[in-house]
Amino acid sequence: MFRTNQLCELNNGFIGQTVTLSGWVDVRRDLGGVIFADLRDRDGLVQIIFNPQDQEMFSVAEHLRTEDVIKVTGLIQKRPAGTENLKMASGEIELVVSQLEILNKSETPPFPLDREPANEDLRLTYRYLDLRRRPMLDNLKTRHKAVLATRNYFNDQGFLEVETPILFKSTPEGAREYLVPSRANPGKFYALPQSPQQFKQLLMVSGVEKYFQIARCFRDEDLRADRQPEFTQIDLEMSFITREDIYALIEGLLKQVWKATKGMDIPTPFPRISFREAIDTYGIDKPDRRFDLKLNDLTEVFRQSQFKVFASVIQDGGVIKAINAKAFAVITTGQLDELTNLAKAAGAKGLAFIKIENGEWKSPIVKFFSDAEKKALQEKLNIEEGDLILFSAGQWLDACEVLGKIRLRCGEYLQGLGKIVIDPEQYDFHWVIDFPLLTFDKETQRYISSHHPFTSPLVEDIPLLESEPLKVRGQHYDIVLNGVELGGGSIRIHQPDIQKKLFEDILKIPKDVAESRFGYMIRAFRYGAPPHGGIALGLDRLVAILCGTTSIRDVIAFPKNQRGQDLMSQSPADVEPRQLRDLHIDVKLPL
Ligand code: AMO
Ligand code: AMP
Repeated sequence: MFRTNQLCELNNGFIGQTVTLSGWVDVRRDLGGVIFADLRDRDGLVQIIFNPQDQEMFSVAEHLRTEDVIKVTGLIQKRPAGTENLKMASGEIELVVSQLEILNKSETPPFPLDREPANEDLRLTYRYLDLRRRPMLDNLKTRHKAVLATRNYFNDQGFLEVETPILFKSTPEGAREYLVPSRANPGKFYALPQSPQQFKQLLMVSGVEKYFQIARCFRDEDLRADRQPEFTQIDLEMSFITREDIYALIEGLLKQVWKATKGMDIPTPFPRISFREAIDTYGIDKPDRRFDLKLNDLTEVFRQSQFKVFASVIQDGGVIKAINAKAFAVITTGQLDELTNLAKAAGAKGLAFIKIENGEWKSPIVKFFSDAEKKALQEKLNIEEGDLILFSAGQWLDACEVLGKIRLRCGEYLQGLGKIVIDPEQYDFHWVIDFPLLTFDKETQRYISSHHPFTSPLVEDIPLLESEPLKVRGQHYDIVLNGVELGGGSIRIHQPDIQKKLFEDILKIPKDVAESRFGYMIRAFRYGAPPHGGIALGLDRLVAILCGTTSIRDVIAFPKNQRGQDLMSQSPADVEPRQLRDLHIDVKLPL
């Protein structure tokens, strides 16, 4: 027997009992002829002591090292007064060891496990040790609780969990896919699914009515802190519903998850913001509303301006937007350069600014402003000493998006300066709705779906599909939390003729391509597809926020690094020439 108890079970009630415990040596201290150590297992920590009376055992204990795995038997006693650690349940007791068995020695870990190593590559190379650290184990526990609460919730709501294939077919919409060659079908490829989108809609045709899945998805995208090549969705689809049903369902889910993991009651229903309002006010469709710095519209102020940059943008149908970064006139030249580069990278020609210092408006452009313009600015932006005003001029969406990025960066700077304080336990949930169904892709000169091509237009907007496609609103909704897109979904097109029209006439997917890629979907819809809709939440992002971390890598047991590599196993890796021959694949490396 390795243990009579787990460490987390021990408390004052055990005083006077003999127990056997197993775990890792956390730290060892030699104090005046007595050896103290902390024994650690997954959920607990307890102090153990070796007295010098048992010389043989004592000399073994003297060679104990951090991370050795041991089994100890002994008597639980109360710690001497003044040596208690009231922060833990076992903090008033200790185990006096009478038998010690070393189950396995440990080499010196490549980094100490009592603090977060600065080098993430090292953490990922020795991920099994990184996961041994308490905060990482806690993240895994939180993830488990969130998934369990999710499964319980959907079960209570009458959902069926159905698994869908991982070997799927390449579809042209959305992100780049991972391809898998088929040995049995030379020259042909599977694709790993970006999401179970098509399968969950087909399950609605099958009459499943309420489907959910904790689903693994794969996307070959540029990676960031909140993006992994493989990630997990809480994926669901329902028949005979409207958008309101999805809102209520997801609000109930998140309420239950927050209760189960944090014991918190989050208020519902969540506020709803239109896409237009989100862009107009925050310059982004996933606004972080925990701080202000809102975008103001100054187009009317500058319509007749002598400042040619602004006047000509307005002449071309554009807008002038500005934010007042309160108390940020202290911005350094380096920071202002960085903001300007950010604006330029986002497509702007520049970033006009005014600093208000010593009662003076310091700016390269104020000399062009009339007194009336200055007065209007003063009032609209509530300008005070110490403020920094930043302008963006351009077409509405472009100008707003540029300033939205500037707003977020200023928010970070101002948090660094302590001028904006965000409560880490604040959870600002909201829905973003009324997205345009289509956007125009300047690069390919084609319309593309804002969400995906199965999203239904608002019924009243269907007549505009051909005449004014950009005016058609989609039945698409995103759930946003603290500036993070937690999930998105839509009511789907269930009529085969409308779906076909969208693919062929609007998205201009050639007929034969549409047939080979989506023919089976359209065919399925001809056999009585119920009206349906659904949503998918990014589980990794949700758990990251619950755990208070900004990187989803911290809540995935074995993530890939920024280059999509698993540093522990060194994958992706070369394969044997024989394997490639079996797959009829020739590799041509870039020169
Ligand atoms: P969408 O593409 O918006 O919708 O994805 C839903 C949610 O999945 C998360 N997510 C990611 N998380 C980590 N790494 C990634 N690379 C990544 N990509 C997406 C985000 C996102 O909001 N099938 C549709 C849903 C539907 O219409 O029902 C879909 O996949 O949190
Ligand atoms: P210019 O006349 O190009 O030197 O621009 C004058 C000032 O306006 C500079 O400070 C530019 O950074 C700024 N500016 C130019 N174009 C824009 C724009 N589209 N939005 C905001 N500021 C701009």
